[in-house]
Amino acid sequence: MQEAPLIAFAHVGKSFDGGRVRAVDDVTLDVAEGEFLAIVGGSGSGKTTLLRLANRLIDADSGSIAIAGEDVRAVDPVSLRRRIGYVFQSGGLFPHMSVADNVGITPTLIGTSAAEISSRVDELLDLVRLERAQFRDRLPHELSGGQRQRVGVARALAARPRIVLMDEPFGALDPLTRDALGDDYRALHNTLGLTTVMITHDMTEAILLADRVAVMRAGILLAQGKPSELSDSDDPYVGELLRTPRRQAERLNVLLPRNGAA
Ligand SMILES: Nc1ncnc2c1ncn2[C@@H]1O[C@H](COP(=O)(O)OP(=O)(O)O)[C@@H](O)[C@H]1O
Ligand SMILES: [Mg+2]
Repeated sequence: MQEAPLIAFAHVGKSFDGGRVRAVDDVTLDVAEGEFLAIVGGSGSGKTTLLRLANRLIDADSGSIAIAGEDVRAVDPVSLRRRIGYVFQSGGLFPHMSVADNVGITPTLIGTSAAEISSRVDELLDLVRLERAQFRDRLPHELSGGQRQRVGVARALAARPRIVLMDEPFGALDPLTRDALGDDYRALHNTLGLTTVMITHDMTEAILLADRVAVMRAGILLAQGKPSELSDSDDPYVGELLRTPRRQAERLNVLLPRNGAA
C-alpha cells in the first residue's frame, strides 16, 4: 500500500500582477516522507513561489497543499513555519547577529531557555561541521560563503523540523565548496530522517543529490521522476536540461579513465 505523502500539492495555482503572471500553474506534486526531491528550472519558472506556498509565506489562488495530510490553510502560518526548516539562497542570516544568535533564533522565539539554546547551538554547529569555539561569536560578514550556508542549514534545523525546504542553497558557491556542502547535507538528510525539497538551477547537482527530480518551466511542472525516469522523458526541454550532465559524464569518462592512476 502506498503511504500518504508528507507534502502534497494538488492542482496548485498562483498568479501575480492581477493574473498577468501565472507563477505556478496547476502543479500537482507529492513528496514522500524521507524523500529528497530537487526542483529544477530556469529563472522565473516558479520554483521559489512553489516553495513559499508550502510554508505559507504566500497563499495559493487555487488548489490545495497538505502537509502530513493536513491542509496548510488550516494551520497557523507561524507554527507551520516553525515545523518546516527553510534555507535561503543567500543564507538569509541577520547581519548584525552572531552565528550563535542566528542559529538559535527559532528556539529563542519559542521560548526555549538560554542554557538549552546554547547547548543546542553547539550541537547544531557540530552537525554542520563548524568548529564551535571558532564560529559561535562571529558575525555573518566574517564567514566564507560556504560557512554562511552551513550556518543557514544549522538555523533551519534548530527546531528539529521533519521537513526542510531549500531555495538554491548552494547556488552562489564555488564548485568544490558546493560539492562538499551538498554531500554533507545529503548525509544529514539521511541520518536525521528528513524530507527535503531543494531548488536548484543545476541539473547535475539535482541528479547527484536527489532521489527524484521535478522540472518546472513557466509555472508548469513538466516532468518528475528518478533520474533514470527523467531520462526517458520525450519532453524537449527536459532533454535539453539533461544534455549538459550527459555530455559532462561522457567527456569525464574519456578524460578520467577509471583504470587511471588516480
Ligand atoms: N511577489 C511577487 N510579485 C509579483 N511577481 C512575482 C512575485 N513573486 C514571483 N513573481 C513572478 O512569478 C514568476 C515566478 O517567480 P519565482 O517563483 O521567483 O521563479 P524562480 O524561483 O523559478 O526563479 C516570475 O515571473 C516572477 O517575476
Ligand atoms: Mg527563485
